[in-house]
Amino acid sequence: MITKIFSLNKENIDEDILKDAAKIINEGDLVAFPTETVYGLGADGLNDQACQKIFRAKGRPSDNPLILHISNHNMLYNLVDSISEDAKILMEICWPGPLTLIMKKSDLVPNTVTAGLDTVAIRMPSDDIASKFIDQANTPIAAPSANTSGKPSPTRAKDVFHDLNGKIPMILDGGSCKIGIESTVIDCSEENPVILRPGYFTYEYLKKIIPTISLDDALVSDKKIPKSPGQKYRHYSPDAKMEVFIGENATKIMLEKALKYKEENQKVGVLTFEDSISNFEDFKTISFGSRDNLSYMSHVLFTALREMDNVGVDIILAEGVSDKDLGKSIMNRMKKSASNNIIYL
Ligand code: TXA
Ligand code: MG
Repeated sequence: MITKIFSLNKENIDEDILKDAAKIINEGDLVAFPTETVYGLGADGLNDQACQKIFRAKGRPSDNPLILHISNHNMLYNLVDSISEDAKILMEICWPGPLTLIMKKSDLVPNTVTAGLDTVAIRMPSDDIASKFIDQANTPIAAPSANTSGKPSPTRAKDVFHDLNGKIPMILDGGSCKIGIESTVIDCSEENPVILRPGYFTYEYLKKIIPTISLDDALVSDKKIPKSPGQKYRHYSPDAKMEVFIGENATKIMLEKALKYKEENQKVGVLTFEDSISNFEDFKTISFGSRDNLSYMSHVLFTALREMDNVGVDIILAEGVSDKDLGKSIMNRMKKSASNNIIYL
C-alpha cells in the first residue's frame, strides 16, 4: 500500500483534502491525523472491521481499548449509557481539549473499540483539523496514538510515516502537535473520578474542579496494576537504551556517565535543560528548554526521543523533573521510555 501525506494549513484548511480523508474513513480504512496532543490513527469508530485494522497496523495488543474522538456533544449521547455529574463538569471546562473521559458504553459501540470492557473512552479534541475531519466523516473516530505499539507517540507527520509507511493509505500533516504528550484519561464510570493517565490537565488542577478526584493506585505505586489496560505495556521506548537522572547533581553525574560510555565506544545522546547543555558539547544534545517551562518539555519530549533514534545513538542520558503538576505527566512517560531506569541524586 502506498501511504500518501497531505499537508494542511491550519489557518486555511483545504476542504477537498478533508473530504477525501473522510471518504477513506467512511469506506472502512485508516487515516492518521493531527490533534493538539499527538497524531492519532483514525478509523470509523462504529465499524468493527475498520477498528481491527488499527490493531493490525500498530501491532497493538487486542486487550488495549481505543479512544473515540467526537466533534460535538450530540455524538456523545449515542455512545454512552449514562453521564455522571462530575463528567458533565469536566466536559464543560476541559472540552474541546486534551481530556479523555471513560463512561459506561452504549450498545452502539463495537467490542473491538472497548476491548470487551463495558466502558468506553471519549475525547473531543480542540485541534481544528481533527475537529473538522471528524465533522466531515460524520462518525466518531476511534484513534490511538499513530505509532507502532511500544514506540514514542508521534508528534509530527514524519514520525507517523516512519512507523506506518506502507500500512495505511493516508496521513494528514498539520505540523507539529502543540502539547506533545497524550490526553489526561479520567475514569468517570464509577462514583468518584479516577485519573488513569496523567496528561496536560494535571492532578493538582483537576482536584480544584473535582475535590473527590484521585490518582489510580498504579500512578502512586509502581507495584499496583494499572486500571487502564494500555498503561501496563512497555511504552514510549526509543530504540536506544535510556537512563533518567533527577536532582541537584544530575548534570555532574550525567557528564561522568556520558564520558564513561564514550570510552566504551558507545554513541551517547543527552537530553537536558538549556542551562546545562554547554557541558555536553562532545555529545549529541537536544534541549528541553528552560527549567521553568514544563509545557515546552512536554512539547519536545517524544520528538527528542525519535531524533535520538534517527541519529543512531546507543544510549540516551536524560534529565528528569520532579513528580508534580505537568512534571507528573512528563515523568509518567519518561519512566516508561527508560524502562524505569531512574536515578535520583
Ligand atoms: O491524546 C490522546 O489521548 C491521543 C490522541 C490521538 O487523541 N490518543 C491516545 O490513545 O493516546 P492511546 O490508545 O495511545 O491511549 C489510550 C489510553 C490507553 O492507555 C487505553 O488503555 C486507555 O486510554 N483506555 C481506552 N479505553 C479505556 C477504557 N474503557 N477503560 C480504561 N482505559 C481505557
Ligand atoms: Mg498510545
